[in-house]
Amino acid sequence: MSAGSRLPALGRLLLPLLLSISRPLAGEAARYDPTWESLDARPIPDWFDEAKFGIFLHWGVFSVPSFGSEWFWWYWQKEKREPYVKFMNANYPPGFTYEDFGPSFTAEFFDANQWADILKASGAKYIVLTSKHHEGFTLWGSKYSWAWNAVDVGPKRDIVAELASSIRNRTGLRFGLYHSLFEWFNRLFLEDAASAFMKRQFASLKSLPELYEIVNQYQPDILWSDGDGNAPDTYWNSTGFLAWLYNDSPVRDRVVTNDRWGAGTICKHGGYYTCADRYNPGHLLSHKWENCMTIDTKSWGYRRNAQLSDYLAIEDLVKLLVETVSCGGNLLMNIGPTHDGRIPVIFEERLKQMGNWLEINGEAIFSTKPWRAQNDSVTPDVWYTSKPKEDILYAIFLKWPSSGTLVLGEPKGIPRKTEVMLIGYAEPLPWVSLGEKGMMVATPLLSFTKLPYQWGWTLRITHAY
Ligand SMILES: *[C@@H]1O[C@H](CO)[C@@H](O)[C@H](O)[C@H]1NC(C)=O
Ligand SMILES: *[C@@H]1O[C@H](CO)[C@@H](O)[C@H](O)[C@H]1NC(C)=O
Ligand SMILES: *[C@@H]1O[C@H](CO)[C@@H](O)[C@H](O)[C@H]1NC(C)=O
Repeated sequence: MSAGSRLPALGRLLLPLLLSISRPLAGEAARYDPTWESLDARPIPDWFDEAKFGIFLHWGVFSVPSFGSEWFWWYWQKEKREPYVKFMNANYPPGFTYEDFGPSFTAEFFDANQWADILKASGAKYIVLTSKHHEGFTLWGSKYSWAWNAVDVGPKRDIVAELASSIRNRTGLRFGLYHSLFEWFNRLFLEDAASAFMKRQFASLKSLPELYEIVNQYQPDILWSDGDGNAPDTYWNSTGFLAWLYNDSPVRDRVVTNDRWGAGTICKHGGYYTCADRYNPGHLLSHKWENCMTIDTKSWGYRRNAQLSDYLAIEDLVKLLVETVSCGGNLLMNIGPTHDGRIPVIFEERLKQMGNWLEINGEAIFSTKPWRAQNDSVTPDVWYTSKPKEDILYAIFLKWPSSGTLVLGEPKGIPRKTEVMLIGYAEPLPWVSLGEKGMMVATPLLSFTKLPYQWGWTLRITHAY
């Protein structure tokens, strides 16, 4: 018996009407109000959780000095940090300004097709490019960034347009844009800040128009907002903008946003949570999140003074990906191109290594769901993902057991039903039940198996619980 047939006659008449008010009609998208309550209720488009792995690119005028950090301008002129002041005094004439670096942002080797191929080879499913960092320089020919954009200064090319079309035409990867709300030294922003953000000149004349401009012109799949400059979301009119983005923009059905939309919104409002740079909680979160981190542990932008030991090794990167995905997150791994448009070969190699690892182990990463346990309770460095519909559990182990057996304290196998496969190895692996204490799996002798990969191995366990 359906619920409707038990309702009194009036209820039966009113019910369809009530439902049509509270729910959108089939095929019609929900509309959102410019309030966090409404915007936070928007489901994050599925493609994002399925994608799991993206590449972040920090590129801008900071790639010209390429010294210390992409925060070069701030550290040099605002904080007057000694290494930065010394670097300028030793290498540039007196009176040289940060803006004077602009023409040297030449990008003569920038080949968007080549970048697209390198990025795709990493196995990543999306990219996020800094369309504008805190320095204010836009990588597209913004109407709102007069004489401080890549079409007027430096390469004289629309970097965002070139990369967007190559990524889309050649790779099928999703194309996302990072955008900094505030700009360190913009006069209008500093005036607004001095008025305790009662004035809104910068937000309404610069930052918001730019956001509408990049969405309309480049239709990004991700809008990665950053740099609230300690101004509240009401100053940025973030809820007004997001309501437009979700209701009426050309990307309303597929766009994904993060949580950096004004002081206090991080880890609380918007789309997925980033919470902090390099956020990696080690436990499951109930809200979709992303771990944004950088291969150069000391900078997001390219820096010439990096040492080999400053770069994460492929073992570290695979571990971060596995931990992050097991806990319900996506990994956004950053590289910094050079001022002349190269992706340094150390980054290219790391990307290729990730791609090689994912070619074998990707089935335990992409489109997976977190399992009831994220890591093993007995053996360290074992992380779980799952495909519930197919009754598959993946156990990714980051240390090859020299003993020849791997104890898994969490999953319980069912004798004669549970099968354990090592991905990349043809034979099922023998295993025994340890009752409530889990199961013990016999791993093949590594020296005889010639597994086509390293850095982390995946067990595909079917029908365990
Ligand atoms: C990509 O495709 C668009 C049309 O879809 C075309 O206008 C553009 O020139 C192409 N770009 C590249 C780099 O092939
Ligand atoms: C905020 O954004 C909305 C949506 O675009 C707009 O209608 C409204 O006028 C904006 N408010 C302010 C104060 O800028
Ligand atoms: C792994 O699991 C154990 C026990 O279930 C837990 O105490 C530990 O914090 C987890 N995380 C890491 C990173 O090992």
